[in-house]
Amino acid sequence: MRKPIIAGNWKMFKLIGDSVDTAIELRQLVTDVSHCEIIIGPVATALNAVAERMSGSNIRVAAQNCSTETEHGAHTGELCCDMLKDAGADSVIIGHSERRQFYGETDASVNQKTKAAISFGLDAIVCVGESLEQRESGQAQSVVGGQLENGLRGLTVSDMERIIVAYEPVWAIGTGKTATPEQAQEMHAYIRKVLSGAHGSEVADGVRILYGGSVKPANVSDLMANDDIDGALVGGASLEASSFAQIVKYR
Ligand code: PGA
Repeated sequence: MRKPIIAGNWKMFKLIGDSVDTAIELRQLVTDVSHCEIIIGPVATALNAVAERMSGSNIRVAAQNCSTETEHGAHTGELCCDMLKDAGADSVIIGHSERRQFYGETDASVNQKTKAAISFGLDAIVCVGESLEQRESGQAQSVVGGQLENGLRGLTVSDMERIIVAYEPVWAIGTGKTATPEQAQEMHAYIRKVLSGAHGSEVADGVRILYGGSVKPANVSDLMANDDIDGALVGGASLEASSFAQIVKYR
């Protein structure tokens, strides 16, 4: 019932030309894919060019961040969700651990940004995940549970239809160390339990929970074989169309 999602997070890589070339190459490689939704997240400057080339295809385009603000105004350097939508995004990645670690993102700003995205009709890919230290000291679930409860606070049942959760253990991002399928499934099941407690079981059953952290063509199918893993958020291996296409075709 939950259609899987394979999403690529291009982070701060690629100029416009390379972004468009990669997207067009990907489009050709995945034309016949219908078992999952496909999302790519280019840098903001390439969003519009990529979205225009992907129009009419099975590839959706995501922004990597958005403003907490919902009115245009004096917010130098910020991008309001309607601007991202105007550029062709239909979803936005919110609260990625790199933004939490290096750009002061908090659960409170994640909550504001998530509400802003929903108010403009964008899907919000809300990222959560514990550090190595937190996992080793047995706090992984409490950290992730807190990020979810605070980040999704106050959302209605219909708001929750726009939520995609990405569990990305910080120790697995860009390190080549993937969580084992068992570790990932355990956390995903816990995330669904937290969502069920906060928003009801029907909502929780419908939310797609993606795993992220060193997903590669070689490990994606073992991860996807688990009941509560509904897709992947892929960084490094999404930068090349061929490896991302292999991930998309994990079956
Ligand atoms: P990675 O990044 O696949 O390069 O580990 C995942 C992410 O940060 O979304």
